[in-house]
Amino acid sequence: MKNPFSLEGKRILVTGAASGIGRCTAIKASEMGATLVLVDLNEERMQETLGMLASGDHSMFAADLTQTENLEKLAASIEPLDGLVNCAGIGLTLPFKFCGEDELKRIMAINFFAPVLLTQTLVKKKKINKGASIVYMASIDGTVTGHIGNSMYSATKGAILGSVRSQALEMAARGIRVNCVSPARVNTPLIQNRNNISAEQVKANMELYPMKRYAEPEEIAYYIIYLLSDTSTYTTGSNLVIDGGFTIA
Ligand SMILES: NC(=O)c1ccc[n+]([C@@H]2O[C@H](COP(=O)([O-])OP(=O)(O)OC[C@H]3O[C@@H](n4cnc5c(N)ncnc54)[C@H](O)[C@@H]3O)[C@@H](O)[C@H]2O)c1
Repeated sequence: MKNPFSLEGKRILVTGAASGIGRCTAIKASEMGATLVLVDLNEERMQETLGMLASGDHSMFAADLTQTENLEKLAASIEPLDGLVNCAGIGLTLPFKFCGEDELKRIMAINFFAPVLLTQTLVKKKKINKGASIVYMASIDGTVTGHIGNSMYSATKGAILGSVRSQALEMAARGIRVNCVSPARVNTPLIQNRNNISAEQVKANMELYPMKRYAEPEEIAYYIIYLLSDTSTYTTGSNLVIDGGFTIA
């Protein structure tokens, strides 16, 4: 029997492919047979990811996705896609009263405008095939929960979910599915490199999780594989919370 989660014959673009969830998703997707287009700001680490993929005709494109001219160049450089995973993003923890306009514009540019404008550019340039799957990374923050210091980050993720629901309706007639994945904390550089949080605070925070741990990147990547595969052809406009039970505890 053919594996229903197989991605053979599918061309899939993953942003944020140099690290964390994006890197892991690219590796797992290649193992399921997909041909990958990797995109990230960090060329060196993306080259490492390229070396970790299962064999195939993969390629990479180094770019700052907040620069709109890069979106056009990227779209012009690729063949039509069967899957798009918008994973590039940043975190930012800052008390609300210190959130300046510059910080707000920067995080909105990376976490909201870049993925939405990349998707729009690819749609306009006919680089998204009929029946393709588009996945956005949101977070439980902004879609389900709030956390102290996360007002700006949460705003970007709430905005993503709002846009996903309308995009799903607009693209459904062409069989293009648009979904959102909302993890709680995942063990990646995004949370490991926060210099204003101590190891004791991390340990105490993990105690709030029913499983007493954060997710590993592959625990998010496998759900993204489901969304990219033909097992999920009736799933659109959804927001899957992957939190080890955090939001129901
Ligand atoms: N790690 C978590 O706890 C967690 C939880 C919920 C949601 N998320 C979301 O998942 C996504 C991936 O996060 P991660 O934990 O893998 O982060 P990460 O820091 O490990 O990887 C993010 C990648 O995005 C790239 N990137 C950042 N800005 C870019 C830009 N302007 N142009 C191109 N590439 C850029 C970085 O170079 C990096 O390789 C993000 O959208 C994040 O908000 C993460």
